[in-house]
Amino acid sequence: MKLYNLKIATQQVDFKQAVIEGIGQDRGLFFVKRFKPLENLDEILGMEFVERSSHIIHHLIDGELPYQQVNDMVKSAFDFDVPMHKITDNVTCLELFHGKTLAFKDFGARFMAQCVAAFNKKNNVTILTATSGDTGAAVAHAFYKIPGINVKILYPKGKISNLQEKLFCTLGENIETYAVKGDFDDCQRMVKAAFDSQEIRDKHNLTSANSINISRLLAQVCYYFEIVSKYYDDDLVVSVPSGNFGNLTAGLIAKQIGAPIKRFVAVTNANDTVPRYLIENTWSPNKTVETASNAMDVSDPSNWPRVMSLFNNDLDELTQVVSAQIKTDKQTYDAMKDLQNLDYIAEPHTAIAYAGLIDSLQEGEQGVFVSTAHPSKFIETVEEVLSVDIELPKALNEVKNKTNLSTTITNDTGKFNAYLLK
Ligand SMILES: Cc1ncc(COP(=O)(O)O)c(C=O)c1O
Repeated sequence: MKLYNLKIATQQVDFKQAVIEGIGQDRGLFFVKRFKPLENLDEILGMEFVERSSHIIHHLIDGELPYQQVNDMVKSAFDFDVPMHKITDNVTCLELFHGKTLAFKDFGARFMAQCVAAFNKKNNVTILTATSGDTGAAVAHAFYKIPGINVKILYPKGKISNLQEKLFCTLGENIETYAVKGDFDDCQRMVKAAFDSQEIRDKHNLTSANSINISRLLAQVCYYFEIVSKYYDDDLVVSVPSGNFGNLTAGLIAKQIGAPIKRFVAVTNANDTVPRYLIENTWSPNKTVETASNAMDVSDPSNWPRVMSLFNNDLDELTQVVSAQIKTDKQTYDAMKDLQNLDYIAEPHTAIAYAGLIDSLQEGEQGVFVSTAHPSKFIETVEEVLSVDIELPKALNEVKNKTNLSTTITNDTGKFNAYLLK
C-alpha cells in the first residue's frame, strides 16, 4: 500500500510504516491518492461481517499483508455484533456500540492494537493520544497489559462524562491518563507538539492512536458495508455525527471503493467549523464550545484534509456528496425525545445524527443514522432529558466506583514536552 503525506507529497510510506509512525513530517496526514474500487462487490456483500471486513481491509491495504493474517487480526478485533435497528419505514439506526467500551471507537482501536502488536519491532512503544471521551476508553482497553506498549492519554478535565472517564482512568498498569485543564483542541495540540519533537519521538518510540492513525480509519470503513449489505438501495443516505471527522472520512472511503451510498449528512453540534466552511468557503474555527454531545466538541477537526483529498480538494464535488447540518443542544434533546416516542433510547451524539437525517431526508430515500455510543455512557443527560432509569451494562457497573488514577496537568505544550523528555 502506498500512502502519501498530505503536506509533503515526497514522503511516501507503506501501511506498516504509516501505522507505526502515526503522523508524517510537518504533521502531515498519511493518505492514499485514490482507493481502487472493489471488483467483487456483490460477492463481498453476501459474506458475514468478519469475513467481509477482512476482504475489505485486505483490499484497502492493497494486499500488503496476506489475507489470512488480516482475517486473524479482524477476527480478534471485531469480536462483537453490529446490529441495525429499524426506527420507521425509511429510517434505521446502525448501532456501533456493542464493543467492550460501548462506543464505535472499539472498531478502530481494537484493529489498531492488532496492527501495532504485529508490526512493532521495538521493545518499548508509547501510544500517545488525545481523546474527547470515547477514544480513550477504546484505546486503553485495546492495549491494556500488552507487553512493551505504554499508553498515555490526554483528555479535557471536567469535559467528558463521569462514566466515560471511569472506563479508562481506573485501569493503571500500562495505561497513564492525564486530565488537561483545557479543551479537546488543547489536548490535540499537545499531542501534535510532542510528535513535532524528534527527541521525544525517539525517546518514547511514539505512535499515535488518534483517528489520524490510518489503521483506525480503515477499520471503520467496514461497518458502512454492513449498512449496504442490508439496504442495497440507490437512494441510501447515511447520517454521521461528526467531531473530528474520522467517521465521515471512513464512510467516504467506503463510497470511493464502491459502497452504493448516494450521499452523506455530516451533523455537528455548535462546533460548526465544517458546516460553515461548506457554506461560506472559508475555514475559520471558533473557540470550542461545550455542548451536550461533548465528544464532538471539536472546532479544528484533524481529519478534514483527508476529506478534501478524497475530492481532489474540489469543494463543488464534495458538496454533491456531503451536506452538513448544525444542531443545538435544544434540538439534540428534542431529537432524543422524538426517538423515545418511537421506542428508541439514544444518547446525544446519536440523536444529533438522527435529527440531521430527518431534516435532510427526501421522499423515496432510505436513511440510516449512525449510533456512536450506548445511552448509558451519557447516563446523566439521558436520564434527565428522557425521565427514564437506565440500567448500566456490566462494563460500566464494574468501574463506576473505582478510583480515578489520572494526573491533572495544564494545557502548556512546553511543560508537557519537558515532562516527556525528563
Ligand atoms: C460518541 C461519539 N460520537 C461521535 C463522535 C465523532 O466522531 P468523529 O470524531 O470521527 O467525527 C465521537 C468522537 O469522539 C464520539 O465519541
